Amino acid sequence: TIKSVILSGGSGTRLWPASRESYPKQLLPLTGENSLLQETALRLNGFGATDVDPRPIVVTNEEYRFIIAEQLRQIGARSPQIVLEPAGRNTAPALTLAAHVASEEGDPVLLVMPADHVVADVAAFQRGIAEGARLAADGALVTFGIVPEHPETGYGYIRAGDVRSGADTARSLLEFVEKPDAETARAYVDSGQYFWNSGIFMMKASVWLRAIAQCNAAMATACAEAAAGCQRDADFLRIDRTAFERCPSDSIDYAVMEHLPSAPELGAGVVVPLSAGWSDVGAWDALWAVSEKDEQGNSARGEVMFEASRNTLVHANNRLVAAIGCEDMVVVETPDAVMVAHKSRTQDVKKVVARLKAEG
Ligand code: GDD
Ligand code: MG
Repeated sequence: TIKSVILSGGSGTRLWPASRESYPKQLLPLTGENSLLQETALRLNGFGATDVDPRPIVVTNEEYRFIIAEQLRQIGARSPQIVLEPAGRNTAPALTLAAHVASEEGDPVLLVMPADHVVADVAAFQRGIAEGARLAADGALVTFGIVPEHPETGYGYIRAGDVRSGADTARSLLEFVEKPDAETARAYVDSGQYFWNSGIFMMKASVWLRAIAQCNAAMATACAEAAAGCQRDADFLRIDRTAFERCPSDSIDYAVMEHLPSAPELGAGVVVPLSAGWSDVGAWDALWAVSEKDEQGNSARGEVMFEASRNTLVHANNRLVAAIGCEDMVVVETPDAVMVAHKSRTQDVKKVVARLKAEG
């Protein structure tokens, strides 16, 4: 059985003013009717293999519980298991909690997915998942590699070996480096030997639990206690606050994936290359790149008029927005803030957010 685990606790503000700490990116409908979280949950629909558990495990911060439950209800997700963290401890504890919950029904293969990504080609995604599932069922820890486009420092980098014997596309994982510095990232991209880590993983629940026990015993213990003390309330699983507050914070990538090449006892590290229109939508320019555009390259959401404009993204959430003579611009209108930016500078949203925080 494949059990999907959706990590949805992040509080990104890189898509300000649409995303806020109180309303993060994964809850926004950015590419269509559905939010990124809803798209993530729907991405396994129509999956050929018969053995996908239709109930996802969604791990999130308590703060987002109602909106997440409502969004899952809207797409008809049947009895999801919504695991509520009293505080964020990054992705490794989130996955560990999910693995404990999943273990109550045997030892399924977990498909771990960030809630805040875009995958344009769902058929290609599902092919990758099918291959990953076979490897994970054999005990591997499976990553999904994206051919890198530029020396992004916010990603993990994976050096892969040759295609494994008997595999369709899967390669051995030779090296995993999370968030390298700019110089290193450039060298990796130039070498042509590295993939970006997509942040999607597959492994059996038992394989993850064993790996985390070996790599971070304090985390494993705290999460085991936190999951054992969990209280159920309809679809919500409220984990034990005291135990979880003792849990150290770390990501899946740093806590386990980086160690795979030097610790074969954790399980075989594998990379399945994924060519599925993946984007983590790290900033508005990335959203423009994956959005549907008209002949002039303009992309709109809401009530928008373009006049003599090109390659411009406009999100109008409440009012009509008219863009005249705009090239390579991003305009985002919300009730209390409007952002106008050149598309090449959308990374600098973080400077504005930092100033807003500093100025209270
Ligand atoms: N439940 C829960 N709790 N979810 C969390 C938490 C947490 O404490 N922290 C983050 N998440 C969720 C986020 O909402 C997101 O969906 C996912 O976990 C990944 O976390 P990010 O914080 O976005 O990770 P990242 O972007 O820095 O790095 C990861 O993704 C990259 C690709 O986008 C890594 O896996 C990189 O190696 C990878 O390249
Ligand atoms: Mg991310």
